[in-house]
Amino acid sequence: MSHGPAAGGDVLAAAETLATVPPPHGRLLCVETSCDDTSAAVVDGGDIRSSIVSSQNELHAAFGGIVPEIASRHHVELLDAVVAEALDAGSTTWDELDGVAVTTRPGLIGALLVGLSAAKAYAYARRLPLVPVNHLEGHLAAAYAAGARTPFVCLIASGGHTLLAVVDEGVRLRVAGRTLDDAAGEAFDKGARLLGLGYPGGAELDRLARDGDPAYVRFPRAVPRGSDLSFSGLKTALLYDLRERSAEEVEAQRADIAASYQAAIVRQLVEKTVRCAQAEGARRVALAGGVAANEGLRRALAAACAQHDLELFLPDRSLCTDNAAMIGLAAAYLPAIPWPAYLPLDAQASSGLPAGHRAR
Ligand code: KG4
Ligand code: ZN
Repeated sequence: MSHGPAAGGDVLAAAETLATVPPPHGRLLCVETSCDDTSAAVVDGGDIRSSIVSSQNELHAAFGGIVPEIASRHHVELLDAVVAEALDAGSTTWDELDGVAVTTRPGLIGALLVGLSAAKAYAYARRLPLVPVNHLEGHLAAAYAAGARTPFVCLIASGGHTLLAVVDEGVRLRVAGRTLDDAAGEAFDKGARLLGLGYPGGAELDRLARDGDPAYVRFPRAVPRGSDLSFSGLKTALLYDLRERSAEEVEAQRADIAASYQAAIVRQLVEKTVRCAQAEGARRVALAGGVAANEGLRRALAAACAQHDLELFLPDRSLCTDNAAMIGLAAAYLPAIPWPAYLPLDAQASSGLPAGHRAR
């Protein structure tokens, strides 16, 4: 049965010309390789049977950032083993699979292509349908594992994207606001680097900030209007602040500076999320993406939601940072491409989610 285009707008644009069928029921092998984590999972509806993530962080740390070619090569080397481990941990054989779900966009194009090519091969060899998933749909689908019910406003904050999405059904979203410059995760990573922490520094800055005084440095509060966000000014303010201090002073106050910088990022994320929920008339809020693992953000958003009578859904930290289980959770809401029509399907580096535009 043809279900029309996989998605409206330009989400999954490559899949649009391909006939689709309703989401497959049962067990899905899920693959996610959009950035530097090689991950696979077995998901059955809302039930995560296994989730394996092989991080390449240490390989990229020496370069102070992700080297796309190195990421692609390691996905090639690791993916089959990670998939085997996911099947094993999920007590699932190849014969028990009902479909394959894979991230097709957005991300590093080489990295995406490794996962997509492998997923096509797994599905083709077993005559299974394939579900293409947008990575951002995956992040927001993690909210369902935390019990989210539509409609809700979801703050998706990762290393590559930061946006406020209004979710009215499944993973169908409308972008209500987005960062005008850096992503929140990028702000964490760049700040961490300025503070002499490792890469990626978000989680390390989070740990350091726990022992610091968030009122030690007063960072600028200027933010864009409406539901849009901005972080590049903050990063520059940190750079200038550090330049005015001696190396000894930075050393002695590192935790206080980290706590102040984190508080400024968190303040903006929380204010914008609450404001967006109010502007959209939403009573429910969810948090997603790698930055959603941040302790300070989780606490501050919980407090703000309690104060404004908003119901909050906080996914487990392991579902916030990149993982393949979230791809499977999203796939349960998305059309599949039947065997073997997905062979020409391509990956896309861009998100396909223009601001102020209904994604589908
Ligand atoms: O979603 P994600 O795993 O990958 C992308 O899709 O980008 O997000 C990664 C980002 C990185 O910038 C990382 O530093 C940040 O999430 N991150 C954190 C924390 N854990 C990961 N930022 C702040 N606090 C954390 N605990
Ligand atoms: Zn991500």
